[in-house]
Amino acid sequence: MDAVEIFTALGTPEGRANPYPLYAKLHELGEAVSPAAGAVIVVGYDAISAILRDPGFGVTDEDRLEQDFPGWRDNPVFVQAMDWLLNLNGPKHARIRSLIARTFTARRVAGLAPAIGKMADDLLDAMADRGADGSAVEFMHDFAYLLPVTVICELIGIPEADRESFRPVARDLARVFEFDDIAHLPAINDAAVELLAYFTGLAASRRTDPRDDLISDLLAVSESADGRLSDAELLHNLTLLLVAGFETTTNLLGNGLQIILQEPQAGAGVAAGSVPADAFVAEVLRFDSPVQLTSRIGYETKIGGVMISDGDNVTTVLGAGNRDPRRFADPDVFRPSRSDGGPLSFGGGAHFCIGAALARLEGGIAFPRIVRRFPKLAAAGEPIRRDTFLLRGFDELPITIV
Ligand code: HEM
Repeated sequence: MDAVEIFTALGTPEGRANPYPLYAKLHELGEAVSPAAGAVIVVGYDAISAILRDPGFGVTDEDRLEQDFPGWRDNPVFVQAMDWLLNLNGPKHARIRSLIARTFTARRVAGLAPAIGKMADDLLDAMADRGADGSAVEFMHDFAYLLPVTVICELIGIPEADRESFRPVARDLARVFEFDDIAHLPAINDAAVELLAYFTGLAASRRTDPRDDLISDLLAVSESADGRLSDAELLHNLTLLLVAGFETTTNLLGNGLQIILQEPQAGAGVAAGSVPADAFVAEVLRFDSPVQLTSRIGYETKIGGVMISDGDNVTTVLGAGNRDPRRFADPDVFRPSRSDGGPLSFGGGAHFCIGAALARLEGGIAFPRIVRRFPKLAAAGEPIRRDTFLLRGFDELPITIV
């Protein structure tokens, strides 16, 4: 198969369901390939890592979007997204990132651990009730989705009473990451408008009545004299935290559970403590990355033997880099004890995931609880995969627990 045939196959339902054999074929072609003029696909671990750390490779920002999609300003979602950290380059990215990082501290994340443990236990209690008679329960909705969305609401400071109505809207907005059909745009725009209105109201109430939450801290930072954060930048990045923070982590939990269902000894090791939870989470991230790819705009250089030109679309396939045989021994084997390097699943360089520690914490708390609570956990029918490529995960993962 040549590169074009492999990409065509990756776009089919079978390719989406299991891209790994196709990634293996890409690895045989080299670290990077150019299937068409102006497009470069990078699958090698070292090459991806180098690109993400190289400031010469920018992300698609306002200037680039203007070239590719001149009507973007008519869409509220793009107006917000063009302030998102993910879509900023240079000094503007550095300024907003450092201000947000000042509030998204290791202390704040670690402080969430008891609340996450309690939320996980509550969700498992509810699953235990529903599945006590041997009937199937649905892991994706009942746990994998509810835990991260509740955690991110807790972190930001969204009151409990608002959370239920909030979740479907956040989910609609998250579809912007898989944006492949213009027909989805109206729903995504509606979600963007609704979330922004919600955060505007919440910020106004926290301004007069600050609490111990991220939104209050961000408001304090934005009002401090040094390096201001505008109101729009603050509110827009709140919507980013929400959408970047839960669907990804939902997929980490779902993809990890599927591995436990297929390889029960991995789950038994976590339950017994012989497999440290952190190592299990790191290997889930490597083996079946919740985020399969990200992209950059190229400049005149050479990567993995392929010439790159100014303005090229460079796709870094994180999920393929994680299975690079040049980097990992037996890349297709799930082995939490491996010591051959960390996964690329959180990216690298200036845009390295700001929520990585939180996602690892959630996984590290959730998996041991699940396997200890439900030692008889088993699949109950075929899982249903989400028909998405960038975000990789399941829609439904039915299980029995007794
Ligand atoms: C398993 C879960 C997660 C995965 C796999 C993941 C993956 C990623 C990746 C690959 C990037 C870099 C994208 C790029 O370089 O273009 C990123 C950035 C980001 N992530 Fe995550 N993420 C996860 C969880 C979270 C959580 C829990 C939050 C927040 C609560 C979060 C917030 C962000 C933000 C704000 C950025 C943008 C950083 C920047 O551009 O400077 N993520 N994430």
